[in-house]
Order: sequence, then structure tokens, then C-alpha cells
Amino acid sequence: MSTVKLTVNGKAVAVEVEDRTLLVHLLRDHLNLTGTHVGCDTSQCGACVVHLDGRAVKSCTMLAGQADGASVTTIEGIAKGDELHPMQAAFRDNHGLQCGYCTPGMIMSAIDIVQRHGGQLDEGTVRQELEGNICRCTGYHNIVKAVLDAAGRMKVSQAAE
Ligand code: FES
Ligand code: FES
Repeated sequence: MSTVKLTVNGKAVAVEVEDRTLLVHLLRDHLNLTGTHVGCDTSQCGACVVHLDGRAVKSCTMLAGQADGASVTTIEGIAKGDELHPMQAAFRDNHGLQCGYCTPGMIMSAIDIVQRHGGQLDEGTVRQELEGNICRCTGYHNIVKAVLDAAGRMKVSQAAE
């Protein structure tokens, strides 16, 4: 057992876990943040994507101990009170989700994509960059529309800040 200290959605936490515990299980089982999902056991689906120090990572493919000292953001941490993150609003408005199981990981990956590509984002880039996130429901088309829509909204909201 080891104590892992990290910041999750802006809050400092210390959690005692077995050394083999994966980050996704620390989030879900110890912190009850169950928005982050598990869709596979081979690191393909991306349902478990969270941000680690601002970059998208698959939390099923990291030990919790490797996140010691890091800042983790999950899907539960991106809205500001009642105000959705622009990526969440764009997924809703473009009907980019059906069952919702892939959505937390999709949204966390998509925010990372927009942050890395900014204004250079086009449909081909979005499709290529979302290669690590699988969806069984949507056929991806509306997800791509949502990400491109959100890229515009995020630029506007960053400019307003
Ligand atoms: S649970 Fe499928 S990639 Fe992490
Ligand atoms: S919305 Fe169901 S898996 Fe993507």
C-alpha cells in the first residue's frame, strides 16, 4: 500500500491504494468520480481519458502512483458551476452522444486536441486525433462536428477571458 497525493479537479487529495491500482480505479473506486469509464482492457477505447497536468492520458494505462504530485482533471471538473464547458455544450448541441459511455473520454480528448491545434483544426485532423477514442453509437460524424464547433467556442471564450 502507498499513499498517493494528487490534485483532482482542483482539490488536494491523499489516497491510500495498493501499488497495483490503476489511476482509473483510484478515480472511480476511491474518489467516486464515476464519469471516467472503462471500456476495454487493452488501452484502445479511450473511455478512461482524463487530463494529467493538462494533457490527455488514458487513465487505465497508468498506475495511480505515477500520478503522485500531479494535477488530474476529470469530466466532473470542467463545468463552471451550472455553466457547461464549451466542449460539453457543443456535444449536446451537435448531438455528439447517444449512450454517453464514451463521452467523458471523448470530451477530455477533444479539449486536449483543441488546445494543441487551436485555429489549425480541420475535419481530417479531428478524425485522426480521435483515433484513440472509440464510440459504438454515433458513427463519429456528430462528434467531429461538435469538436469543430467547440474549437470556435473555445477561441471566443478564451478571447473573452
Ligand atoms: S479503458 Fe479502454 S483505453 Fe482505457
Ligand atoms: S455514445 Fe455510446 S459509445 Fe459513444
